[in-house]
Amino acid sequence: MKIGIVGLGFVGLTFASVLANKGYNVIGVDTDKIKIKNIKSGKSPFYEPQLDNILKNALTKKLILSENIEEIVNECDFIFLTLGTPIDKNGNINLKIILKVSKKIGELLLKLKKKPIIVIKSTVVPGTTSNKIKKILEKKSNKKVGKGFGLITNPEFLREGKAVHDTLNPHLIVIGSNEKQDSKKLEKFYKEIHNEKISIILTNNTTAEIIKYANNSFLATKISFINNISNLCQTLPGTNVDEVAKAIGIDPRIGNQFLNAGPGYGGSCLPKDIQALIACQKTLGVESTLLNAVHQTNILQIKKIVELIKKTLVNLKNKRITILGLSFKEESDDIRESRSIKLIEILLKEQSTIIVHDPKAIKNTKLIFGDKITYNEKVEDALNNSDCIVLMTPWKQYSKLQKIDLRKMRKKNIIDTRRILNIRGSDINYIGLGIGY
Ligand code: UGA
Repeated sequence: MKIGIVGLGFVGLTFASVLANKGYNVIGVDTDKIKIKNIKSGKSPFYEPQLDNILKNALTKKLILSENIEEIVNECDFIFLTLGTPIDKNGNINLKIILKVSKKIGELLLKLKKKPIIVIKSTVVPGTTSNKIKKILEKKSNKKVGKGFGLITNPEFLREGKAVHDTLNPHLIVIGSNEKQDSKKLEKFYKEIHNEKISIILTNNTTAEIIKYANNSFLATKISFINNISNLCQTLPGTNVDEVAKAIGIDPRIGNQFLNAGPGYGGSCLPKDIQALIACQKTLGVESTLLNAVHQTNILQIKKIVELIKKTLVNLKNKRITILGLSFKEESDDIRESRSIKLIEILLKEQSTIIVHDPKAIKNTKLIFGDKITYNEKVEDALNNSDCIVLMTPWKQYSKLQKIDLRKMRKKNIIDTRRILNIRGSDINYIGLGIGY
């Protein structure tokens, strides 16, 4: 059996590497020449724990890389599409890339004798597979779904920073297709990779698409909810959002995950998917009252942090502010929709002097801010002459900081948006987000 993977981002490259390590013949395709060159040398184009190791191993085994999709269509039994689906400024999903690739695949299917199964792993708004991708494939190939080729929606639930772990241990596999036989083939494949006990939901294409959006929207809702409660705690002395989260999390109907109050959710998925679902629902005449509130709460959260900084420093002009953590989450160098980037933009407008530290994301941040801010490889250097620390990303190393590390600060103010710093003292003004003083 041969597996083709089109699009080598977090999902595609991790999936390709894991499959090759498990002994499958895999062809990975991407149109980005530099990316392919990096990957061929055994270097992932982004930081993802464990990925470099399994990639190197995959390259010595069964992973082949190419810029040409033809090989995949001609040779593979399953063709996974793991392409980006960005949004425009109005939140509408932009399907240009995936539709262009579908057109190309359709053209190649025209002369093909065998019947590959095309698997949509990209996040696409409800109706995309059946209404758009299927139509293009059928028109260009002059073949019918189920007969000339298979078409399955198979959303991905892996998290950045844990991509390898989640690919090896998915909590759920969703297989959406209107053709039972094709679903069964993919089900067999996944059971072979994992084991018979893996949770698999078999459904149709559109329900599979909705499951993906419902999943991410629910996670975003939990975060905005706890951030709302966090803002309540902030106003009431003696209260702490973590105590509230711990207590409600014990209720099995609520669950204890995704209740960490913070600067709001970032990344390439939750902010984009919530907006895309809102825009999609609008076209279908469905009200997005709840999702609008989730999105607005997320936007407002960064303003709450600016309020806390203003309350602490009074005037922001010329104040030296140290931002700890630039990536949208720990164990990642991804700064897409990172709340740290939004915060820096606001603080620069207030004419503050910004000094930053991050273990992995400095290179990406330089591409945005250039020499407008100061970058430090060492945390201690980032704290020199600082008026205030704002901890944004919960990298483990920050929780190990000690009082002595603050000795060169001009003023010992700390705003800890994740409540992970363990530094207190009479000369230290510690403010934890979601703690009422
Ligand atoms: C998210 C989903 O968690 C994955 O299941 C999904 O596959 C992925 O999107 C996707 O659609 O591709 P990811 O973007 O990697 O994964 O990041 P999350 O772990 O969900 O975190 C998103 C943001 O929420 C981060 O900024 C994080 O700091 C924040 N967050 C998360 C909180 O503020 N509090 C929490 O309790 C949890």
